[in-house]
Amino acid sequence: MATDKDILILGIESSCDETAASVVKNGRVILSNCVASQADFHEQYGGVVPELASRMHVDAVYPTIQKALSDANISLSDIDAVAVTYGPGLVGALLVGLSAAKGLCEVSRKPLVGVNHLKGHIAANYLCFEELEPPFLCLCVSGGNSMIVHVKDYTDMEVLGRTRDDAAGEAIDKIARVVGLGYPGGPKMDKAGQGGDTTRYQFSKTHMGDSLDFSFSGLKTSALNLINGLKQKGEEIDLKDFTASYQQAISDALLKNTLAAVDQTGIKKVCLAGGVSANSFLRSAFDKASKKKGIKLYYPDLKYCTDNAAMIASCGYFEYMNGRRDSLDLNAYPSLQLK
Ligand code: KG4
Repeated sequence: MATDKDILILGIESSCDETAASVVKNGRVILSNCVASQADFHEQYGGVVPELASRMHVDAVYPTIQKALSDANISLSDIDAVAVTYGPGLVGALLVGLSAAKGLCEVSRKPLVGVNHLKGHIAANYLCFEELEPPFLCLCVSGGNSMIVHVKDYTDMEVLGRTRDDAAGEAIDKIARVVGLGYPGGPKMDKAGQGGDTTRYQFSKTHMGDSLDFSFSGLKTSALNLINGLKQKGEEIDLKDFTASYQQAISDALLKNTLAAVDQTGIKKVCLAGGVSANSFLRSAFDKASKKKGIKLYYPDLKYCTDNAAMIASCGYFEYMNGRRDSLDLNAYPSLQLK
């Protein structure tokens, strides 16, 4: 669909513990970006409580949308489509954003565009790098997913490798809890490991032959065994060195397969995406390797790594331009895959 007119997309995101709404122009220019985070509330439970998350989305969803429209200085009638995350994520949480989006579409007669949350994470890079265009490889690493994606076009993608068990974010969050860092584990572990010795503790690695798939459950178990083994001897881990070593081991595993994907495809343009792409150990491992191997590396600004609606609006724009329209019976898919 070719057009000279600016296209404004209202994006809505509620797949986990962030209620977010944003207006984005032409898939790249952010006019507003509002996020109501529940993270502080769920901290007392050590993780997201799904039913409470849904209820908090109900409270926050319309005020957040209203703020996104008013920050962008527009009204609902000015937008071209409503893009909303319909999976993957917590079903009760997804249904709140989805139902709100449908209500807006019904009253305004604007089209509804369903967005895969993982494609949204990838699109966060378009918001930060004006010149970035497919094709490229993307390492998409979040709380629920770890995958290497061949982004052939804005809407056409192929997964080259994915985790066979835990996601990298899960492996980080679990060990963060065990060493007493609490929730949300990722940013806390990142901070705890700053300046630590990344070689002091060793963890077992899983080899997958030529496959680009990952496995993090072995690494996680080996970290648990190390902690328990030391405890039995009456010794404590050195938190700084332990968290630095653990994050380095995870980063090395993610880097190794991504470099193998570069070799296999010959594509020397790589993006990082998802919550774990905020990790400083991962970023620095990729920075170093990319310089050495002549790879052009992109990763989003920190605030676009974790859940937000600007990335949903950006992805929604490209889906909209590709002709995607969803009907008002679009359902939520908690295990939606990237094809
Ligand atoms: O993408 P995201 O916000 O939500 C999902 O779609 O899953 O990712 C959340 C994950 C959590 O596991 C969180 O601990 C992790 O991203 N995370 C980090 C960092 N910031 C967030 N992991 C490591 N280092 C960080 N700085």
